[in-house]
Amino acid sequence: ELMLELKGIDSMAEELKSRYHLSEAVIVPGNCDESEFVKKSIGEACVSRIKSRLSGKTIIAVTGGSTMAEAARTMKPDFAEGKNVLFVPARGGIGDDVRNEANTVAALMAQSTNGSHRVLYAPERISPDVRESLLQEPAIKEAVSMIQSADIVLHGIGNAISMAKRRKSPEAELSMLESQEAVAEAFGYYFNKEGEVIQKLSTIGLKLEDLQHAKVVIAAAGGASKGKAIRSYLNGSPKLDILVTDEAAARELLDQE
Ligand code: BG6
Repeated sequence: ELMLELKGIDSMAEELKSRYHLSEAVIVPGNCDESEFVKKSIGEACVSRIKSRLSGKTIIAVTGGSTMAEAARTMKPDFAEGKNVLFVPARGGIGDDVRNEANTVAALMAQSTNGSHRVLYAPERISPDVRESLLQEPAIKEAVSMIQSADIVLHGIGNAISMAKRRKSPEAELSMLESQEAVAEAFGYYFNKEGEVIQKLSTIGLKLEDLQHAKVVIAAAGGASKGKAIRSYLNGSPKLDILVTDEAAARELLDQE
């Protein structure tokens, strides 16, 4: 405990990097649970990491969430100067605040950088039949194939139960998540402490297995309240290259139980 308290940001970042086999761990000072400014720094750090990885033509798949929305707000036209960047929402609608939906975030990113974007509107909960027919729709087909061939995937990580509530999940689903001790959520997947997938939403979009095909996967999430969720996701993710977080979450997640 004491050791951790004395530990600086740089050594925590090194520890995260080696413990979770990341190519980079970025830790911004502070706790975004307490300050919107810290969430903004996470967004900025995220944007600068993507910027240095853009090639001529780049497809970026992005999820929703307030952290991603913050990243979108810090993007500027010089982000993709002379490059051809296309933003695609990683998932269909999630019944969240419309400002934080993946569609909105992708559109805002495109608008701020003079890039282009696609939309993907699909209900959260769909029956297998409807899902199959929706996947035949040309616009949906195109968006899905772009997600699958994305060069960069950019996603948030949430607390399982708060995300389920934000999605207004039915009571039965909530108690299922509770009884299976769900800890983390990312793009519609719920994970337990060990990082095992215990539930996933049947909507259209990014699948866990699609991550393997991306050149760079970046996750951004911070706040002491997300420490355990981030650890659970780090345990479960099949591919994560860069984690952008804050000091408070990093302390929580490195802290041994
Ligand atoms: C969702 C993403 O929209 O936002 C999830 O699909 C993520 O991957 C969540 O868990 C996080 O939201 P926030 O507002 O905490 O950044």
